[in-house]
Amino acid sequence: MRAPRGSGRPMPDGAAALGQLRQNGRPLPGAHPMHASLASLYGEHLDTLQERTRVALERGGFDHLVVPSGEIHYQVFDDRDYPYAVNPQFKAWLPLTRNPGSWLIATPGAKPRLLYLQPHDYWHVVPEAPAGFWVDHFEIEVIRTPEEAQQFLPRDPGRCAILGEPRSRLGPYVPNNPQLVVDYLDYHRATKTRYEIGMMREATRNGVRAHAAAERAFRAGASEFEIHLAYCQAAGQDANDLPYNNIVALNGHGAVLHYTERDRTPPERSLSFLIDAGAGHAGYACDITRTYASDTGSEFQGLVDAVDAAEQRLCGKVRAGTDYREIHLAAHLEMATILRDAGILDMAPESALETGVSAKFFPHGIGHYIGLQVHDVGGFLASDQGGTIDKPDGHPYLRLTRTLEPGAVVTIEPGIYFADLLMAELRASEHAGAVDWGKVDAFRPYGGIRIEDDVLCTVDEPANLTREGFTELG
Ligand code: GLY
Ligand code: MN
Ligand code: MN
Repeated sequence: MRAPRGSGRPMPDGAAALGQLRQNGRPLPGAHPMHASLASLYGEHLDTLQERTRVALERGGFDHLVVPSGEIHYQVFDDRDYPYAVNPQFKAWLPLTRNPGSWLIATPGAKPRLLYLQPHDYWHVVPEAPAGFWVDHFEIEVIRTPEEAQQFLPRDPGRCAILGEPRSRLGPYVPNNPQLVVDYLDYHRATKTRYEIGMMREATRNGVRAHAAAERAFRAGASEFEIHLAYCQAAGQDANDLPYNNIVALNGHGAVLHYTERDRTPPERSLSFLIDAGAGHAGYACDITRTYASDTGSEFQGLVDAVDAAEQRLCGKVRAGTDYREIHLAAHLEMATILRDAGILDMAPESALETGVSAKFFPHGIGHYIGLQVHDVGGFLASDQGGTIDKPDGHPYLRLTRTLEPGAVVTIEPGIYFADLLMAELRASEHAGAVDWGKVDAFRPYGGIRIEDDVLCTVDEPANLTREGFTELG
């Protein structure tokens, strides 16, 4: 039995109140009352968004910011829906991640308005009535059908910057996503408010708890699929809630950067475990990677320890005024030094970077902004008026080229991999003679290593949200 499609299907409100994270009327596993100070920081967060919106609208020549929460998407030739993904521009304002068909309206000088879709529906669980610390900050209209929103939208659609997906159009209210407005908001989204940092700490608590459960499952000999389930159970989140698809890789699978297959049976011997998995909290993400060896006295464990130490040095470079591209290049030198010290590569680290040899072992960027989106926006913007800061030549996968400012949260995620394709390219290159192929072959069954933390740039020492989370977990 299926509901009629396209009926503005409601979803349970999994984050109706930050202090009482609930789903279908029950607290989510692992949810706990939010610290009161986070609720008190919400007003300050909204003030910041109001001020950013005022300037963005001025730049674009508009009077109102209008943000639809987004629509349910259906599979082609089918009535099956994809998991709903809220418009990030909407959840920037509200801790609501499961409310398709709602709208936010921000007008400078006025209290923001929320058109909150709570349909009459017996097919699905409908969102609970608006509740939680956030409601007093909005003028709220509860609507019963998606179309009802139109009567409450600003009279002249031409005066509205409407940020959303094309299918969110409602009559003459068609998302126009004005570049000047989007660029301004995206640029400043890099600077997190205190409320947002608190939300990311909550997401991190969910993530580290789940990482600990995953490590226990690995050491007990579980399959990739079983480890994934242990992770989800401990996080209290599944595929629809997690900020990205878990990477749970045993042995050689760790060499596949985005390995998401998850074997149902464990390998004969689990030598190594790479897990890149995050968690959410009311729309905010964490992004954490750890790598483990089953034999803690092995050479592979030695490499893991070396990458871990290098990663912490790189985290220490998350300083105001630092060009993030410099951290990426420093990571190449760090990884090349580890390869040289391990006897895998007989080459000066600087030459390994210049010749592209280090990129055969470390073939992705050192990290990215994180926040409302795991790969948060605005990483290449030259200013709040647009423009692009280029990636360094030969480093196409770097996602962030800006200079760091206090309030930025970035990931730092160096790695060393023994990927068949890249090793074959290196072996066919003029640099093949600099590599100890016996050692490479010995490490291939272990796949690779990545260590990833989320780090807050401050006016002073960086704050490593991930390590703080693990420490708090004990
Ligand atoms: N988990 C995706 C990333 O690390 O960027
Ligand atoms: Mn990442
Ligand atoms: Mn990651």
